[in-house]
Amino acid sequence: MVAPREEDWIEAARRARENAVCGRSGFAVGAALEAEDGRIWSGCNVENSTYGLTVCAERVAIWKALSEGVRKFKGVAVVTGAEEPTPPCGACRQILWEFAGDVPVVMATVKGKRKRFQLSQLFPEPFEF
Ligand code: THU
Repeated sequence: MVAPREEDWIEAARRARENAVCGRSGFAVGAALEAEDGRIWSGCNVENSTYGLTVCAERVAIWKALSEGVRKFKGVAVVTGAEEPTPPCGACRQILWEFAGDVPVVMATVKGKRKRFQLSQLFPEPFEF
């Protein structure tokens, strides 16, 4: 299903991707989440010299929103420069599930390819506590 504002999500993710701090991998990612009130929160991946402390674009975006008090989300977009749309990593699926719930996930490439899932399709049988 095409989410009503998916174009806005993708555009925000595409713009955030331009700020990616990804000199280690060369793989720039942008993500954007729409909050219940319609505001869009975006993020890019941020790598550092330890590699292991890298934070994915999806988590940067959701941390920004959560830290500003946002608690409900309508959906998320992820944009990469890969040939095929790139789904969120496993860690991000867990975080998105916990804080955004079963939202639409739109993946897009900078060249315009798209894929759409519900998060429950990408993350069945979640850990919940
Ligand atoms: N990355 C993301 O930003 N989101 C994902 O869901 C997968 C991976 C980033 C982390 C790292 O900076 C680069 O992509 C290569 O793994």
